Amino acid sequence: MKIIPCGTEHFEELVSFVVRLNSDDAHHIGFFGEGEADVRSSLAECLIPPAEGFQLAYDAEQLVGVFGVDADPEISRAWLFGPLVEHADWHSVADELYAASLKAIPDGISEQDLFCDSKNSNLADFAERHGFPVRSENAVVTLERADYKKPAFHESQFSIVDYSPEFFEQFERCHNLLFPTTYFTARQIVEKLDSTRRLFLGLENGSMKGYHFCKVEPDARSGYIDFIGVDEAMRGRGLGATLLATGIDWMLSCPETERISLTVNADNVAALKLYNNFGFVTERVMRAYRKKGSNV
Ligand SMILES: CC(C)(COP(=O)(O)OP(=O)(O)OC[C@H]1O[C@@H](n2cnc3c(N)ncnc32)[C@H](O)[C@@H]1OP(=O)(O)O)[C@@H](O)C(=O)NCCC(=O)NCCS
Repeated sequence: MKIIPCGTEHFEELVSFVVRLNSDDAHHIGFFGEGEADVRSSLAECLIPPAEGFQLAYDAEQLVGVFGVDADPEISRAWLFGPLVEHADWHSVADELYAASLKAIPDGISEQDLFCDSKNSNLADFAERHGFPVRSENAVVTLERADYKKPAFHESQFSIVDYSPEFFEQFERCHNLLFPTTYFTARQIVEKLDSTRRLFLGLENGSMKGYHFCKVEPDARSGYIDFIGVDEAMRGRGLGATLLATGIDWMLSCPETERISLTVNADNVAALKLYNNFGFVTERVMRAYRKKGSNV
């Protein structure tokens, strides 16, 4: 077995291998997304370039495994892209790749995340052997353009506006309360805003009561909902539905968008009901693992 870093000359081979294996539930790793365009954009978004963060395993010149790391020192977390292995000795290949990949994790990272389809039993065994507890089960829900149905809801009492800096403090407070341990801080979200990523705010009497952060990825022909949330005291009055409809209408106004997806905790009944009302269906159930500690 030969383990080598993914130099630029191996990049296309890496992409083909990931696209092929990731389409199989038994191998699927969530961080890569679905299909070639998703895989390419996930790799392009890595803070650690794949040439530094990804390792490849070869057996007799045949690519048999891929494992990558990405990490954000600001939130002290690493995301493990793999292991994706096609070999009779799955676990030995995965362990060798993991050992090599650990070297790419910068100092000061205290959490490592794994994220896979719940049918990926090899990864479940890998996680247990390496001390990664299950954190949550998440549903990946998808809306095909043709299935969009806007349910009846009361929207006139709220105004929906694009984010502007005067709302930063309210937005940050709300985001930290609703998603205290998530992957983007409020500051990171507002710094990402451009023609492909929008942050909609729901206002009542000039005060921010909810938000929706979503993006379009024309190359992947898709839209993605990162966060939608409503102040607890305001729930059940139609603001979530209003924010969701506004974001979906915008994402579908991009002619390339064929489908919209998101990941939500599988036991989040309120959110799943909201999405189902709009025509979203559960595509797969994912399992998230997180190992914590100063020595990870
Ligand atoms: C999910 C959330 C955004 C819904 O916001 P909301 O303003 O309360 O939603 P709405 O009042 O617009 O309700 C829309 C629909 O959602 C469903 N829903 C909302 N709250 C619900 C609950 N507690 N139980 C079951 N269904 C619920 C209903 O189908 C409702 O439509 P209906 O009243 O016509 O049946 C809100 O609960 C929230 O912020 N939760 C915490 C953050 C979160 O989990 N976000 C989603 C993960 S990305």
